[in-house]
Amino acid sequence: MADLAAVQEAALAALREASTVGELDEARVRFTGKRSELVAAQGEMRDLSPDERKAQGQAINAFKRAFEEAYETRRDALAAAELEDRLRGERLDLSLPPRRVPPGRPHLLTQVLDEIVDVFVGLGYRVAEGPEVESATYNFDLMNIPPDHPARQEMDTIYADVEGPSDVVLRTHTSPVQARVMTTTAPPIAVVVPGRVFRADAVDATHSPVFHQVEGLLVDEGVTMADLRGTLLTFARAMFGPERQIRLRPSMFPFTEPSAEVDVSCGFCSGQGEACRVCSGTGWIEILGSGMVDPAVLSACGIDPDRYSGFAFGVGAERVAMLRHGVTDIREFFEGDVRFLARF
Ligand code: DAH
Repeated sequence: MADLAAVQEAALAALREASTVGELDEARVRFTGKRSELVAAQGEMRDLSPDERKAQGQAINAFKRAFEEAYETRRDALAAAELEDRLRGERLDLSLPPRRVPPGRPHLLTQVLDEIVDVFVGLGYRVAEGPEVESATYNFDLMNIPPDHPARQEMDTIYADVEGPSDVVLRTHTSPVQARVMTTTAPPIAVVVPGRVFRADAVDATHSPVFHQVEGLLVDEGVTMADLRGTLLTFARAMFGPERQIRLRPSMFPFTEPSAEVDVSCGFCSGQGEACRVCSGTGWIEILGSGMVDPAVLSACGIDPDRYSGFAFGVGAERVAMLRHGVTDIREFFEGDVRFLARF
């Protein structure tokens, strides 16, 4: 008959020494499983005398109880330790500074286009858009620029490569959207048109074959040049500052009569004729072209020029952005150098 007391001691020691739940279960199999000395001792019971059997039975039960209790205590301790370990391993230190992902933002040009549009939306204008690939009919004819008009040559038009005589151009200005709006909408009309335009220009510090304009158009009964002036003064002050003045100079555009080039007073010098890089000492900076919509344009677009009049203007977005932010080279807008882009 096995010495149960010694086996029990060895079993309890094995439980104490188990350092994982796995090792604990190995000990359980070894000391209480089918081939254990405990089970063998139970098998030997029938060969014992009644007195011996009673004593052995009590010893076996005591062993089982002691083992079970020690097993459970140890298992709970190991499970708690393992959980603790896992929690410690997976702990997140929320006080660590995050890895920096630089926030993106709209491109400077997008910001300026949005600002220009916002000024007019604030005055009650709607935003309109038109196609960048345009027909010569809208780009030229409806804007009062007939085929033999010198403005067609001056605009360095990029023609689309199509079969036969080409009527398809990349729009040279946003003005054709005036015609698209007027041929489809009855007055009163008040729209701003931001967009990309194209000209076959060589690239230098102030020229790019692709640039952006914002066109404005207002058509209603009784619209006068005073309305144009007031509107553009509001625009110039919103964009450049409340102290600015504007002046209108006589000019010539096929689609407006009369036409005016608009200058904004220089905010970078005293305007007293000193050497200024921005206004060359004149005190004035040209910012846009404008005028009263030519009655011939109204008629061609189906609007009665005897009842309605209107004004229009076109402003270059790159030019405004350069003046506002001291950018001296138009190529900066298109090169995508993050050192430039991150400044705005
Ligand atoms: N379309 C002209 C250009 O690209 C700019 C312009 C001038 C637009 C006068 C207008 C305007 O609407 O009235 O040079």
